[in-house]
Amino acid sequence: MARDSAIYVCQSCGNVHNKWAGQCSGCGQWNTLVQEAFSAPPGGLKPEAAGKISRLNKLQFETLESEDAIPVRMVTGIEEFDRVCGGGVVPGSAILIAGDPGVGKSTLLLQVAANAALKNLKVAYISGEEAVEQIRGRASRMGLSKAPVNLAAETALRTILESLKREKFDLVIIDSIQTLWSDAVEAAQGSVSQVRACAGELVRLAKKQSTSIIMVGHVTKEGQIAGPRVVEHMVDAVLSFEGERGYPFRILRGTKNRFGATDEIGVFEMGDAGLREVPNPSALFLGDGHERASGSAVFAGIEGSRPVLIEVQALVAPSAYGTPRRAVVGWDSGRLAMILAVLESRCGVGFGQKDVYLNVAGGLRISEPAGDLCAALALVSALTDQPLPRDCVVFGEISLSGDIRSVSRAEGRLKEALKLGFSSAVTAQSVAENAPVQVRGYTTLVDAVTGLF
Ligand code: TYD
Ligand code: MG
Repeated sequence: MARDSAIYVCQSCGNVHNKWAGQCSGCGQWNTLVQEAFSAPPGGLKPEAAGKISRLNKLQFETLESEDAIPVRMVTGIEEFDRVCGGGVVPGSAILIAGDPGVGKSTLLLQVAANAALKNLKVAYISGEEAVEQIRGRASRMGLSKAPVNLAAETALRTILESLKREKFDLVIIDSIQTLWSDAVEAAQGSVSQVRACAGELVRLAKKQSTSIIMVGHVTKEGQIAGPRVVEHMVDAVLSFEGERGYPFRILRGTKNRFGATDEIGVFEMGDAGLREVPNPSALFLGDGHERASGSAVFAGIEGSRPVLIEVQALVAPSAYGTPRRAVVGWDSGRLAMILAVLESRCGVGFGQKDVYLNVAGGLRISEPAGDLCAALALVSALTDQPLPRDCVVFGEISLSGDIRSVSRAEGRLKEALKLGFSSAVTAQSVAENAPVQVRGYTTLVDAVTGLF
């Protein structure tokens, strides 16, 4: 391709097209193709690179002592954040934190920066969105004005790279990657080409001088701002920061991590003085007290490495329309359809002309199949208007044949239930006899429904 020819880049998925089109053939989004000038990728092969060879290293440590030289993780002191990173930030790693605008990414990272700086790490916070005075103001409202963080308001990538080369930091926060601008790329600020080039340069710097870089990426559903998806494959870890509107709870979820597990979550609560860590999230997702109304059931789930108790609420109401509504919050609608079908065909419990609503309390999302039984029992409880036994948790997967399957880490789930004052559990028959709470085991869903209602 000629060096100056035009290309069309989808601002949502980063697909490159030769011709403009209304719809991107890569992701199916409309009106996302934007003309950008083609330029060689940064760091492309230059003539002077010819003839150079790479040095190959042995996997083994050369001496026994050097085994102690494995880089230790930098612990920032914000435990919920450190855990999602896999036990702290690995030196020289690049992390992307993605989330909707306003969810609290800047707040979280300012707290991470301040805590890390108070632990004697050398930290820089570079913002392209706020002026230094604004960041200072926010920090003082959050009681962090004593932390020795280096602040800068800068958007020019070249200036940032130059400063970071001159003064070496342990941790650099870039807020946000969409505000950076590289003069090596002829494309608008925030476009896919700019975001990709800037992130690429920052990741290279991170590896080269062992500086950890955390980048903020805004996500927009409309795809108007370059989605951070184009950056995902470049970085070592992608954390998404989520929160439902109207709830103070925020969940930090690892979606990619080269240095740790990806199913870990960190829970925070947004308050007047910034984000507060929630080390025991069960109490948060349980709703009010242990008094259960009909349609409510408590799921003993596992989020990452932790057991968490979550209240699941169902409502069944006569439908005013020809096609009854099936609405879910925090639950997969396909899985709800499956549970309703199993209840209908295996247990004879029909929801035919009724509207069905299923809601997970606290803005959490349940994606574990172990939640099936809990949703099914909440639905039957709502339909029959009979509450489930008090002080009981529910977990188990339902198969299409209507059997209840046992799920992993049953003991951890039961222990969490005991810790929070629950005395029994409804689950698969096969769950261990010497469980810490009384277990009501069932082999099939129809047995559970007839046994409980
Ligand atoms: P912010 O971190 O600026 O979001 P992002 O960087 O993801 O766009 O957070 C903005 C929201 O957080 C804003 O709606 C106000 C709220 N907030 C508080 O409730 N308490 C606080 O102490 C702070 C700093 C922000
Ligand atoms: Mg921000």
